Amino acid sequence: MIRGALTALRLVSQTDLPLLERWFTDPQIFEYWGGLPKSREQVAAEYLGIENGDEIVLSFVVERDGEPIGYIQGWSDEPLIGGIDLVLVPHARDRGYGSDAVRALALYLRDRLRWNEITVDPLASNARAIRAFEKAGFRWERDAPDHPDGPSLIMAFEPRAATKPGHAPAGPESTSVDPAGD
Ligand SMILES: CC(C)(COP(=O)(O)OP(=O)(O)OC[C@H]1O[C@@H](n2cnc3c(N)ncnc32)[C@H](O)[C@@H]1OP(=O)(O)O)[C@@H](O)C(=O)NCCC(=O)NCCS
Repeated sequence: MIRGALTALRLVSQTDLPLLERWFTDPQIFEYWGGLPKSREQVAAEYLGIENGDEIVLSFVVERDGEPIGYIQGWSDEPLIGGIDLVLVPHARDRGYGSDAVRALALYLRDRLRWNEITVDPLASNARAIRAFEKAGFRWERDAPDHPDGPSLIMAFEPRAATKPGHAPAGPESTSVDPAGD
């Protein structure tokens, strides 16, 4: 479990497949995630967790007080460089949970897995996502007008509070990380 201040991230397992299938066939979710519904087989193949050579997808269910409220993944196709994507269910949006979850995962990828470049790529039109990523510690890096999803921004994780290697920052921004355990 990776713990943020408001949310917890739990590694996806087989038992989450019905839930993920329900989410990824809901237009209010998949409109932000490729634009098409995904079958259970696709979800299982793509989001159950992939580690195949340099390709890594770390998949988590975002929880708030034990209730599943979204899906978040860290992905990488070259060593120590990668990105984060997430989507929350509609009723959980605009409550600070998205920025909390993405910050918690970025801190885990940076401090525990030692990724040295972590980006997000919101559509330039997605003002809420851009604001949420700014709150989480991401900063505009460049425009990506030819991004496959449409004109986008590339934002890089630049947390204000630098941390010593292996130590999460103290205080309200503290994030505890133990993806294998609870
Ligand atoms: C994007 C998403 C993950 C953000 O998570 P969230 O919990 O809703 O975001 P937060 O509540 O942490 O922050 C949202 C911020 O955007 C602001 N905001 C909301 N709508 C906005 C708009 N139309 N324009 C500008 N800012 C907006 C909120 O006021 C808040 O900022 P504030 O705290 O300074 O007031 C979530 O909204 C979501 O799942 N959206 C659909 C999927 C998606 O867009 N995914 C990102 C793809 S890159």
